[in-house]
Amino acid sequence: MSSFLSAAWGADTPTAPIWLMRQAGRYLPEYRKLKERYGFWRMCRTPEIAAEITLQPVRRFPVDAAILFNDIMTPLPPMGVDLDFDPGPVIRQPVRTPEAVRRLRVPTGDEVAPFVAEAVRLVRQECAVPLIGFAGAPLTLAAYLVQGRGSASYLEFRTWLVRNPELARELLDKLTDVSIGYLRMQVEAGAQAIQIFDSWAGIHHEGGYAAFGMPYAARVLDALADLRVPRIYLAVGASHLYPQIATLPAEVISVDWRYKLNRCRLAMPGKVIQGNLDPAVLLADDQVVDAAAVQLLGDGLGGAHIFNLGHGVLPATPPDAVARLVDTVHRFSRPAGAATGSAAGRGLKAGVSTPRS
Ligand code: CP3
Repeated sequence: MSSFLSAAWGADTPTAPIWLMRQAGRYLPEYRKLKERYGFWRMCRTPEIAAEITLQPVRRFPVDAAILFNDIMTPLPPMGVDLDFDPGPVIRQPVRTPEAVRRLRVPTGDEVAPFVAEAVRLVRQECAVPLIGFAGAPLTLAAYLVQGRGSASYLEFRTWLVRNPELARELLDKLTDVSIGYLRMQVEAGAQAIQIFDSWAGIHHEGGYAAFGMPYAARVLDALADLRVPRIYLAVGASHLYPQIATLPAEVISVDWRYKLNRCRLAMPGKVIQGNLDPAVLLADDQVVDAAAVQLLGDGLGGAHIFNLGHGVLPATPPDAVARLVDTVHRFSRPAGAATGSAAGRGLKAGVSTPRS
């Protein structure tokens, strides 16, 4: 079994597998070239192009997993939502009224995005590492639908939630049903793991997440259990929600950079931890990247660890920094059963602890 899948199922692998959120994207010149020619939405909707972009980082770097190139917004237009990208998602008529919520269609998994199923099949024909499918969490999709576009505080969404809790549940129910069908379709087409992006979970307080976040994310994850692929859940800025996140039916929890990995592990016993280098580190000097990676690898000892960033690769990231990071992670050997943090000091001094060959 690949090191990524072994770790995702809980094995304390001899080296940490690594892939990066947004590894297919704007920091790669070969991506930007295609984007100029086709535009973002057309790239998402054309299986040959989406497959090619998925494979670009896999060809360039020896990463241990591929993530399908598409977007968390992809299931929304088939629900009847008028969506644009500028460069982030823009919803021309935010969904706020009972009529708007009731108008939303709930397409089946096969109807949502047949082009995604085809892209998955094309990637699987060519890709030597496991392919991760993905979807947005219901609460994060609702944040965009109600707010209308990205926002730092989502004040209109949070206000709408407290004013319209019943309507919010109706909206979240529909998004949950669509997400389940969409993810099952990806796995049936060949995706070997799935990740749920709850990018905006962290803006909610514990009670808000308990009411509107966790139950819907749990329902999506639970509905995939019989497919026997590892389930990864990412919430950003959500360290205050770890006690709740620890109860989700996901094998892997992807954590941002706010807590050290050993603390995340203690907060979520039994979960495989994925993360959590601050994406900004990849914009620093080589020595800083090496030291941060080795420190983090040390913090990740004591259980299964999938190396990743705490959030997506930043557009200004030099591809060489990604190459160096992947190499550093692969050269770090993880002594089986080592206590958390025990190798951090040793690794830091040498830059890399024990080269494999
Ligand atoms: O490599 C990968 O991770 C696979 C592809 C992928 C994209 N979006 C491509 C994309 C994935 C997994 C996503 C998920 C996604 N999309 C999330 C969750 C992850 C996160 O960042 O929190 C969110 C919130 C979105 C919504 C979205 N789509 C935003 C906010 C933006 C614009 C700004 C940005 O962050 O890139 C997009 C557009 C988008 N999605 C681009 C890419 C490569 C950029 C398009 C461009 O080239 O301008």
